Amino acid sequence: MLAIIGGRGLTELASLEITHRQVMRTPYGEPSGAFLFGTLNQHEVIFLARHGYGHTIPPHMVNYRANLWALREQGVSGVVSVATVGGIRADLTPGVIVVPDQIIDYTHGRDSTFFDTRDTRYSNIDFALPYNPELRGRILRAASLVQQPCVDGGVYAATQGPRLDSIAEVNRYERDGADMVGMTGMPETALAMELELKYATLAVVVNYAAGRGDSQQGINREQVSAIASAAVERVRSILECLVSCDGS
Ligand code: HPA
Repeated sequence: MLAIIGGRGLTELASLEITHRQVMRTPYGEPSGAFLFGTLNQHEVIFLARHGYGHTIPPHMVNYRANLWALREQGVSGVVSVATVGGIRADLTPGVIVVPDQIIDYTHGRDSTFFDTRDTRYSNIDFALPYNPELRGRILRAASLVQQPCVDGGVYAATQGPRLDSIAEVNRYERDGADMVGMTGMPETALAMELELKYATLAVVVNYAAGRGDSQQGINREQVSAIASAAVERVRSILECLVSCDGS
């Protein structure tokens, strides 16, 4: 069974047939909201809204550890994160969907590991390939089957938020090699690996990052919402195919 963590604009999956909701508790506190158990194209999935169902939890306050711990407790076979990003690379224009393959962490002060006590044996996870290559491949295949073009690969810059970026910051991310910028990729990606969960991201470009394209004077929030809403259908069709094409 796959889990889907939905971000802005995908707090509810319109075609998810919900069978039940369950409030979860973990040693790390409560996840962002109740887990929605349901079926997508007749395949069981768990859905969780990363920012809560009223979109009230800002990126730096999401309880990433509780979210992933509780998903692992459910025995999910993988986690697909859906997230919105600002596009830095010239071809990552608003509306484009990307499956990133690398990430750079600019966040701070978040609970970023499960290995934070002296009494647990810790391991140094190998984060060379932060996203699960097999799950990435399945997402890309599903996208191609439903004829939803997706960009294969890109470097995600995970920033602290909740504010958007200055132009100088985006210039720095670009110099560092980042192709897109978002606020929720870390520590989620690393925590999933610590729990040995297969994890990949479907990133929806909802705006040009600051200083690029039409974001020279700032980011147009109405446009962001419109692009995010328009992308929901496309993301949904990819996810539907993903769960039914390989039976996970
Ligand atoms: N910057 C950071 N996070 C974002 C952006 C952005 O431009 N767009 C969506 N999430």
